[in-house]
Amino acid sequence: MRFLTDRYEYVTMPETWRPRILRNLRADFCAKSAWYYGTATRLRCLRALLSEGTACTCLFRLASLLHRCHLGFVAAVVVKMNSLLTGATIGAGAEIGPGLAICHTGAVVIYTRARLGTNVIIQSGVTIGVEKGRAPVLGDNVFVGTGAKVIGGIRVGNGVRIGANAVVVKDVPDGATAVGVPAKLIAGRGPGG
Ligand SMILES: CC(C)(COP(=O)(O)OP(=O)(O)OC[C@H]1O[C@@H](n2cnc3c(N)ncnc32)[C@H](O)[C@@H]1OP(=O)(O)O)[C@@H](O)C(=O)NCCC(=O)NCCS
Repeated sequence: MRFLTDRYEYVTMPETWRPRILRNLRADFCAKSAWYYGTATRLRCLRALLSEGTACTCLFRLASLLHRCHLGFVAAVVVKMNSLLTGATIGAGAEIGPGLAICHTGAVVIYTRARLGTNVIIQSGVTIGVEKGRAPVLGDNVFVGTGAKVIGGIRVGNGVRIGANAVVVKDVPDGATAVGVPAKLIAGRGPGG
């Protein structure tokens, strides 16, 4: 599996079979390690485990598992715990692929019907929220900068970068960089999918 570094380059890590929650968590730690340290070795992944935002990812994965097992009430309790302990509100029903890296937890909100692909990097203060009952779909290898809001039934393509404090209310094509309020596309140094 490929993980994005903060230089918008990729590092790879071999895949092994594990139950889904463990596979997702391993990929989450690797993604974070790649983002912070530019590599996803075992030691670095362990270090990433201790960094801020990881507790929030773990609690979300647990809530998501409980939700899939039709234990909605227990899942809701875990979501509440996550919100109290880490300040992040991530709905148990949100579908988020492996390699989720939440770098800082403050005020992260991900609506329960949002769908995020693999290797999505989320900075602090990000909202991925609903508008008129519809939630966004984010592709793979997407970076969402600090304070950005992605709202409504829009599609954000693969390899997209969303700048700090951007408000994204329209579709963003693959590989694009979107900044500003409302977000506009710029020519940036994108990861290219
Ligand atoms: C969007 C982003 C990824 C683009 O990076 P980049 O490809 O290196 O782009 P550049 O820095 O070369 O900027 C290109 C243009 O976009 C503008 N721009 C960049 N980021 C912007 C933002 N968040 N909002 C508005 N304009 C922005 C620059 O001013 C520049 O404009 P110019 O061509 O008129 O001078 C980056 O600027 C960003 O916002 N990163 C978020 C980082 C973050 O959240 N860090 C949190 C750590 S805790």
